[in-house]
Amino acid sequence: VGSVFGNILRTSVFGESHGPGIGAVIDGMPPGEAINADELALFMARRAPGQSKLTTQRREPDQVRFLSGVMDGRTTGAPLTVFIENTNQHSGDYKGLTDTVRPSHADYTAAVKYRGYADMRGSGHFSGRLTAPLCAAGGMARQILRRQGIEVGAQLLSVGQVRGTSFDPLEVSAKDFARVLENPLPTLDPAASAAMAEEIDAARVSADSVGGVIQGAAIGLPVGLGDPMANGLENRLAAALFAIPGCKGVDFGSGFDAAAMRGSDHNDPFAMTVDGKVTCTSNHAGGILGGISTGLPIMLRCAMKPTASIGIRQHTISLKNHENAVLSVVGRHDPCIAIRAVPVVEAVMALTLLDLLLEEGYYEKP
Ligand SMILES: Cc1cc2nc3c(=O)[nH]c(=O)nc-3n(C[C@H](O)[C@H](O)[C@H](O)COP(=O)(O)O)c2cc1C
Repeated sequence: VGSVFGNILRTSVFGESHGPGIGAVIDGMPPGEAINADELALFMARRAPGQSKLTTQRREPDQVRFLSGVMDGRTTGAPLTVFIENTNQHSGDYKGLTDTVRPSHADYTAAVKYRGYADMRGSGHFSGRLTAPLCAAGGMARQILRRQGIEVGAQLLSVGQVRGTSFDPLEVSAKDFARVLENPLPTLDPAASAAMAEEIDAARVSADSVGGVIQGAAIGLPVGLGDPMANGLENRLAAALFAIPGCKGVDFGSGFDAAAMRGSDHNDPFAMTVDGKVTCTSNHAGGILGGISTGLPIMLRCAMKPTASIGIRQHTISLKNHENAVLSVVGRHDPCIAIRAVPVVEAVMALTLLDLLLEEGYYEKP
């Protein structure tokens, strides 16, 4: 099934954008873990729509209701169900899109695969809205990971041609993750935040959209998490990150840039710390060697494409009439989906890492 994540911690995401609601059932949640509902609400708010003119004007509080698996603020160990009501649907905005399919969206592939039966109102199960339950599940995983000594964070690294400041691959800390949240856009450098906002607003006023890169990091991992070849830490994280709608690329450490480097620059020299631990003096590997964590920060990047739904007139087809057509998409859309996808990257990373900790016996009971 396409919407189920994880091996031990199995998260199944359900719902459609304009149905009664969306949610997730999380099986394999360890019992006795405290869930801080206020902290979860703050995390969800980072993804929520309607934050500014730079994000979609769909306004929904995304209030999480726990239908099962939590009692007196702690996980029970039974399947945990989170439900988020849909309250701000404008289905009329999407009339016709199942016929004149949006270039770069899933309208065409869904129409063929599901033979016209898919609920595509508001993009249905393909909507970015489905990342709300992912954030609910991942937000809980993030709280649990913190108690295991692992912190997960992310930031907007670039928008269009505007590049921000990278997290330090050796020294990145929870303080950096907090600093990201102090700026109007979730990026480390305040000057980059302002320049990115200009870039996004320029796209918005031209009824266009713009892509961006999200940088994710995880610190405090034990050495040894993951496996070689098909079940590596990179494989597991990438598979989950590609579930984020609009994610078109994932790389680790220096990633694609490594292909232009010499080994003498790219290799991370090993060194002993003063307290007798093994470390490296650089982290081009992004904290992963042979699919296994090195104990250094996990560093990754996700390339988010520009939003498919744009107001500019584009060529498409009418599926019914089998003829060419033109389309300009109306309705409320993010000019840059990468902004709201930043907490989604954190959520997906947290779910994957907690799943691996549970699977490989590193998880410590509360
Ligand atoms: C938080 C978030 C919000 C999104 N909002 C929109 C949107 O308003 N309009 C749109 O066309 N795509 C939006 N997307 C992306 C589409 O859902 C995605 O491009 C589409 O499902 C096709 O999948 P693909 O791009 O992975 O191939 C959003 C994605 C995320 C993560």
